[in-house]
Amino acid sequence: MRLILLGPPGAGKGTQCKRIVAKYGMAHLSSGDILRAERAAGTELGIKAQGYMDSGGLVPDDVIIDMMTGAIKKAAGGYVLDGFPRTVVQGEELDKALVAAGESIEGIVNLVVDDKIIAGRLTGRRSCPRCGAVYHVANLKPKVEGICDKDGEKLMQREDDKPEVVANRLKTYHEQTAAVVGYYESTGKAIINIDAGQSVDDVTVSVFSELEALCSQVE
Ligand code: AP5
Repeated sequence: MRLILLGPPGAGKGTQCKRIVAKYGMAHLSSGDILRAERAAGTELGIKAQGYMDSGGLVPDDVIIDMMTGAIKKAAGGYVLDGFPRTVVQGEELDKALVAAGESIEGIVNLVVDDKIIAGRLTGRRSCPRCGAVYHVANLKPKVEGICDKDGEKLMQREDDKPEVVANRLKTYHEQTAAVVGYYESTGKAIINIDAGQSVDDVTVSVFSELEALCSQVE
């Protein structure tokens, strides 16, 4: 299955994608995770992306499109895209790449959540730098405070989850990314809107129920 998960920063895209790939077994292609790995490795791409990410802006389209279409080509068993496409140009270029490969996206899930909820989710997020597991200081606590349940690593706060950067990420979302939903609607693609203001588990129940319906249509 090939899926796209849309939604503002902190909507829960990464959290739900991890559960989707655990159940359905496709690749999780997160543009943010790939960029953070490039930064950690000190690559040219990572260094180029750094300033945009730290300020809450978007990395230029050409850089992202090359990076993500390259990752998609390697994911032969299907994938869920997380954080991409994030501009209409990225959506158009993804569509061209899919047409060229004779493939299509089977489902687009849009996590809908109010801005007022998002700030608390992002400033309270803690992540494991080793395995990428994501927690929240109030909503999704690890068993031992500050320590990853899976590998015992000390949890970290992302630099771009500081309040001043969060405000800019939300502004960027409304100015440049929200239009991606309209782009897909204009191409006749059905969007599955999910209320992502619910608890993590309730969002998962809603997402899985929609994906089961989608699977039965695809089969
Ligand atoms: P990226 O890493 O993609 O960040 P994002 O889209 O802002 O998304 P987040 O990872 O912050 O949030 P999420 O929706 O995954 O939420 P999560 O599940 O973690 O991108 C980072 C940067 O890279 C961008 O700012 C940009 O600079 C650059 N970039 C990336 N892709 C790009 C592209 N295509 N083009 C250009 N630039 C690009 O959850 C958040 C927290 O909330 C967690 O603590 C979680 O436990 C908690 N939580 C989740 N769901 C719930 C719930 N239902 N109830 C309560 N708490 C919840």
